[in-house]
Amino acid sequence: MKRREKKAVFITAYDYPTAMYADVAGVDMILVGDSVANTTLGFRSTTSVTMEDMIRHSGAVTRAVERAFVIGDMPYMSYQPSDEAAIRNAGRFIAEAGCDAVKCEGGERVAPRIRAMVDAGLVVMGHIGLTPQNLAQLGGYRVQGKTSRQVEALTADIKAIEEAGAHFVLLEAMPPEVGAALRESVEIPVYGIGAGPHVDGQLLILHDVIGMQDPGILKKPRFVKRYADVGSVIVDAVSRYSADVRSGVFPSEEHFYGG
Ligand code: KIV
Repeated sequence: MKRREKKAVFITAYDYPTAMYADVAGVDMILVGDSVANTTLGFRSTTSVTMEDMIRHSGAVTRAVERAFVIGDMPYMSYQPSDEAAIRNAGRFIAEAGCDAVKCEGGERVAPRIRAMVDAGLVVMGHIGLTPQNLAQLGGYRVQGKTSRQVEALTADIKAIEEAGAHFVLLEAMPPEVGAALRESVEIPVYGIGAGPHVDGQLLILHDVIGMQDPGILKKPRFVKRYADVGSVIVDAVSRYSADVRSGVFPSEEHFYGG
């Protein structure tokens, strides 16, 4: 797609129905993000998610998908400790969950892990900029690449990721001119979430796009565009069902067996 100058559509999904709808809608790539922590499991931090959670959710997604390319997000501490841990856990996303590729967060310092996974035959996406697994070090949800020092560090990161053999990279939360410069600095496809328009494709979190997010757990970032208010649709449907049960309108004869 990059060679053909076509923008890739990339979205998260976490379970069978959300993946099925995203696939039917024709997205190119699906990330089973560790944002499942916030969107689906009710945690405040992605660091609460385990390998078992990710394998369970990734498997549900791949069972639903017929055409999109599915990437499993490696959870906190599944790749940081050693090359061996990285290869073993990345392999589980492929062998047990049926993913096409894995993603891990970090630049220069995870480059050796990326090299190890690529050498083991895996397809790997890098992820730099705002990396939620390192929120404490980053001082919270902050736009990255705002100073020349940060831009230098991001440039070194993306080059190290490409050099390590990553097949593509994701940029998160940075000014558009930084996204553009980083994209120009490497050959591999560069996707963005809040990194401006000058990249090879856009990622958004499905629950942000469809309006199914608890604002107490995750605030809607500036880069999000909301296309539906599914949360209100659910509240409305369940409220009307509740009213029908309480008033005796449901079940009516058409919902009875026999007769
Ligand atoms: O887990 C996720 O959805 C992600 C995106 C925020 C990039 O890693």
